[in-house]
Amino acid sequence: MPNNVVVLGTQWGDEGKGKIADLLTVNADIVVRSQGGNNAGHTLVVGDKKVVVRLVPSGILHSSSLCLIGSGVVVSPEALFGEIAELKASGITDAESRIKISAASSLLLPIHVAIDKASELKRGKNAIGTTGRGIGPCYEDKIARRGLRVGDLYDMEVFKEKLQALLDYRNFTLKHYFGAEEVSFDSILEGIMQVRERLLAMVADVSAILADARKSGKKILFEGAQGTFLDIDYGTYPYVTSSNTVAGGCCTGSGAGPRHIEYVLGICKAYTTRVGGGPFPTELNDELGEHIRKVGAEFGAVTGRPRRVGWYDAVAMRRAVDINSLSGLALMKIDVLDDLDELKICTAYRLEDGSESLLPPLAAYEYSKVTPIYETMPGWKSSTVGITKFEDLPQNAQAYIRRLEQLAGVPVAIISTGPEREQTIMVQNPMA
Ligand code: GDP
Ligand code: IMO
Ligand code: MG
Repeated sequence: MPNNVVVLGTQWGDEGKGKIADLLTVNADIVVRSQGGNNAGHTLVVGDKKVVVRLVPSGILHSSSLCLIGSGVVVSPEALFGEIAELKASGITDAESRIKISAASSLLLPIHVAIDKASELKRGKNAIGTTGRGIGPCYEDKIARRGLRVGDLYDMEVFKEKLQALLDYRNFTLKHYFGAEEVSFDSILEGIMQVRERLLAMVADVSAILADARKSGKKILFEGAQGTFLDIDYGTYPYVTSSNTVAGGCCTGSGAGPRHIEYVLGICKAYTTRVGGGPFPTELNDELGEHIRKVGAEFGAVTGRPRRVGWYDAVAMRRAVDINSLSGLALMKIDVLDDLDELKICTAYRLEDGSESLLPPLAAYEYSKVTPIYETMPGWKSSTVGITKFEDLPQNAQAYIRRLEQLAGVPVAIISTGPEREQTIMVQNPMA
């Protein structure tokens, strides 16, 4: 059985990664986040309790698991400690001692939030629809080599110097390009000083912990954030997030070597959703879309925004299977489709010259030239909520799942029939 398993989104995020990561953590010693930040919103439902984690790995509900935040993550101290307080309020009192953060992870500061918001305003109708959490600007600073890292907090003289240089640059842009309010050095420094000691107590060498864990045969779960089509390289650019959300990102963002990943589980909904702007070929802008949004409670876990809803897209999935080297799929929210008379699956895109494409384009503007080609399957019109055995599913639901499996070319390992842990068909547990 694999020891090192990746769980990642294969669509535009919110596929149900949190539920599956939490579920698989029963068999994991360590859960790692490698990219993204508090733009993620992973919902965990246990009994009548609902917990949403953003920056903290979903393994936090399991008291024996160690939760790691790798170098590829952008860490907002304010968001982190806010989340730890929320966890405490819901009865998880030892979160702070079980979270370890890489010294090389980037510090996300209020200046990044200010730039994110100002930049979205400036874009006007072409706004990306970001979560407004400062994610993009923080990654910009990292790549431009002017960013601050968690490890910079060890030497406050160096930290202050770097912060001043960052603010000189960023505030100039804020004021003179965006026409927005500057963010003061003192306010940032004060915020940092309030949490510095606590944050430093959480710093650890994440890649070394992973190497030791691997050598001693421990089980490691890599928890992706966002989804394949929000990837900075392979997503619907520029309507993407600013990190590598694909499987490769979990190596660069945690320090685990590629040869050590043994299983990649792709999480996908039995339909598709997307939050924010950008192309979405199978989108349903009608009553049916409204119905699925309502039944599936498709409202953002971070921003509360209504999610756009559409049919399952097997064209996009083909690319997701290849670039993530998926081993298996977790097919989520099958229960949301229970009432439908019929279901459509997009199997190819029609191009302007009449030809068909089996793979999606690589840039947003090219999507205006594609029209989805659908095949139709009958609905099952009965409840699948909470079903735990494949053979108990209605015949038409079984046929729908088998067809999606056939189109993806990888086995469906998990089928989810409700938000709770128990509402799951475990065809083959990737981690047990
Ligand atoms: P993530 O960001 O990928 O972790 O996904 P989110 O938590 O943002 O969104 C998934 C939503 O679907 C959450 O509210 C989950 O509780 C819910 N969910 C997960 N699996 C199922 C399922 O099989 N059926 C239903 N009805 N809801 C589910
Ligand atoms: P989880 O992990 C869905 C989207 C935003 C926007 C784009 C860029 O819960 O699946 P950003 O703030 O990252 O610069 O926004 O990416 N986005 C998500 N959509 N789920 C997420 O995370 C997302 N994180 C970012 O809506 O379109
Ligand atoms: Mg989410």
